[in-house]
Amino acid sequence: MSNDKRDKLYADRHDMIVDFVFDESVANVFPDMIRRSVPGYDAIITHLGLFARQYALPNTRLYDLGCSTGAATLALRRQIQVTGCEIIAVDNAEAMVQTCQQNISHDKSLTPVQVICADIQDVTIENASVVVLNFTLQFIAPEKRQALLQKIYQGMVAGGVLVLAEKLVFNDTQKQQFVEDMQMAYKKANGYSDLEISQKRTALENVLVPDTMSTHVQRLEAIGFTQIYPWFRCFNFAALCAIK
Ligand SMILES: C[S@@+](CC[C@H](N)C(=O)[O-])C[C@H]1O[C@@H](n2cnc3c(N)ncnc32)[C@H](O)[C@@H]1O
Repeated sequence: MSNDKRDKLYADRHDMIVDFVFDESVANVFPDMIRRSVPGYDAIITHLGLFARQYALPNTRLYDLGCSTGAATLALRRQIQVTGCEIIAVDNAEAMVQTCQQNISHDKSLTPVQVICADIQDVTIENASVVVLNFTLQFIAPEKRQALLQKIYQGMVAGGVLVLAEKLVFNDTQKQQFVEDMQMAYKKANGYSDLEISQKRTALENVLVPDTMSTHVQRLEAIGFTQIYPWFRCFNFAALCAIK
């Protein structure tokens, strides 16, 4: 973590804030950016490994959808206990895919990994025992989320697990204010200035559209997942698992 390049993308005042994109400048600082912005990120990554340990079945696939620089892929890969598995890591940002590929090449674990540059909405999901959407669904257009999750469900084996981590929004305005204040405090404690926080928030406004926890749960139920468990929560960030 200490070797990560420091995120200073919004440190200087921008004349115009454009919508956030996962380009090369973001890929270069991404591990630092996500750790200093998302409370609980490292804990979630560690626990993704546990899901691989518990749910990966022999001769199946594990998918990391929206893999960025590969932190979740590596967590899965290092914990798989069965043979014949393959990990498919997908991201539609070329710079992320390249960095992910490099990070995987330095890892000595045995499970083969295919890193694919594609829109996760276009990728075929098949024979999946573990599917990870770690802070990715929130970047898919809200009206397309159901179809994506439906496709994932259809490509999963019985007993397989979908692990979904997301930023949440709350209907209760007081609760919403509380979690926003706490995330702001988290970012400030991690060295971000008021200017950085405010410019980044504007850049993400139309790009990251969070759902409520009940929207997530109801959608997963409607799709047919038999067991849905929220297993992590820190302010406005949460992770659920859904078992087929
Ligand atoms: C917040 S990052 C995910 C973090 C990553 N999963 C991790 O655990 O470190 C969101 C990623 O999703 C990717 N993404 C967003 N929309 C996508 C899409 N439609 N298809 C593929 N990747 C997408 C972005 O390029 C970005 O790398």
